[in-house]
Amino acid sequence: MTSERTFIAIKPDGVQRSLVGEILRRFERKGFKLVALKQLIPNKNLAENHYGVHRDRPFFSGLVDFITSGPVVAMVWEGEGVISSSRKLIGGTKPLEAEPGTIRGDFAINIGRNVIHGSDSPETAQFEIGLWFDASEINEWKQADQIWRVED
Ligand code: RTP
Ligand code: MG
Repeated sequence: MTSERTFIAIKPDGVQRSLVGEILRRFERKGFKLVALKQLIPNKNLAENHYGVHRDRPFFSGLVDFITSGPVVAMVWEGEGVISSSRKLIGGTKPLEAEPGTIRGDFAINIGRNVIHGSDSPETAQFEIGLWFDASEINEWKQADQIWRVED
């Protein structure tokens, strides 16, 4: 299977609640490779583009206000199956229905404060990575212990 990349963002509630280290730890421990990371307060244009698919939904303006309300930790993670696996690590959109052991299942109770975002498909991942990062911000590197994570 070929390696792929996904876009992950710790939302303002996750940053405010000091969950950054805990979340990074879960992705690292799983075995995925961090290839880009930065903290920023997204402007309205970025937030509206990111959630453009939800433009006509009643929660859209509240969602944009929330995402632009404070620092977000934006990341690109790489690895085999990382897009769907990240969604499993994150858990369902509604935190009360997210399985315990997932990030939302363990750390959230409200759909509008669900701590973290993850791309939901290869197409979305490509779009979101390009939206949040310049190519020069993404680092190609080899994990020293890669042979203990993946077969040749
Ligand atoms: P995300 O895009 O943030 O990773 O979340 P998701 O794929 O699990 O869920 P999605 O359907 O894409 O919804 C995006 C975000 O919009 C907020 N939302 N609020 N009040 C509501 O009914 C409602 N529905 C969605 C959530 O914060 C959700 O993460
Ligand atoms: Mg989504």
